[in-house]
Amino acid sequence: MSTAATAPTAGSSATNASPPPPPPSSSSSPPSPARRTSAVGWEEYFSTYPAPPGTDTAGARIDAFVAFHARAQRRVVLVTSGGTTVPLEKNTVRFIDNFSAGTRGATSAECFIEAGYAVIFLHRQFSLQPYSRDYTHSKNCFLDYMHARADGTLEVDAKYSGHMKEVLAKYQKAKSENLLIMESFITVEDYLFLLRRFTTAMSVLRENAMYYLAAAVSDFFVPKDKMIEHKIQSSGGHLELQLDPVPKVIVPLVETWASKGFIVSFKLETEPAILIPKSRRALERYNHQLVIGNILSTRKKLVTMVTLDAVETIELSDAELAQGVEIESRIIPDLVRRHDLWIGDGAPQHGAP
Ligand code: PMT
Repeated sequence: MSTAATAPTAGSSATNASPPPPPPSSSSSPPSPARRTSAVGWEEYFSTYPAPPGTDTAGARIDAFVAFHARAQRRVVLVTSGGTTVPLEKNTVRFIDNFSAGTRGATSAECFIEAGYAVIFLHRQFSLQPYSRDYTHSKNCFLDYMHARADGTLEVDAKYSGHMKEVLAKYQKAKSENLLIMESFITVEDYLFLLRRFTTAMSVLRENAMYYLAAAVSDFFVPKDKMIEHKIQSSGGHLELQLDPVPKVIVPLVETWASKGFIVSFKLETEPAILIPKSRRALERYNHQLVIGNILSTRKKLVTMVTLDAVETIELSDAELAQGVEIESRIIPDLVRRHDLWIGDGAPQHGAP
């Protein structure tokens, strides 16, 4: 089923979209398979569309990272982070974006490393990254952190050096122990193919793998065979978009790709009343271990850990927020405890840890 849409997906915002109609000229019409009218399932999706360039080489890097940590019997977590884009044209000028700065993912990655996990950080290109996150997207220009000495050499300004020294030490430890690998996506298609490749690579880790799906993944997209080649022209007035549903990849992820691991998905809503029912429904439907529910406006202060047996909240006080406590520093230890319990229980495929 195609979905007529003039607005982006929930939690998404249209980027750089002006209002033209797609021209029905033969040069920009998609080829005949585009006449398909029903939504594709995930099997058909992966058998119809080729993997984006770079999927195999990124996959090979993950194979090596997984093998290294499998030998060390270390737990590995895949952290997905940032929003996926949905291009509207093959030569992309315009696209729809899903909201996410990547704060949740980047902060969580640091906390997982602190807890002894190795991290595969699959993130949206140029979104926040672990360790550099405090500096790259700050209001300061990087030059503001520096200071010229009388002898002409540069040093970190004393105002910032305490914090930077701490972060640097953590970053260097993660690097020297090979605890972090970062790979990036831009479009929802990149994300889907990399997710399949990486989770399949991690499956050899069995219960020592955790999957922490914090990326904001588009629910609607324009499949390649329905996408026009060139920039949509604005000469015809308003623009109507037909977006197809993106196949729910959490289905094969739980059933096949990552079936032996501990799987945590996120549920993002803007309406508090539907958060818990929808989180529970996701658990019942997909049969994984945990859903973390969050509301867009309060996501840095409050999250809800939902299993089939219990609903527990993790909340920071205003004082903690003011002191700069990050909610991920509470979420990750809670997840590590749940992962321990789940492994202790023999890593059952279904049910609450
Ligand atoms: O980065 P920040 O600014 O800190 O924001 C963090 C966050 C709010 C983005 C994050 O905490 C969060 O909630 N991420 C998940 C957002 C999301 O995609 O929620 P959803 O309700 O649309 O999807 C639910 C689940 O279905 C997700 O696990 C997703 O991976 C999965 N999904 C979604 C679409 C799709 N086609 N297939 C899927 O499997």
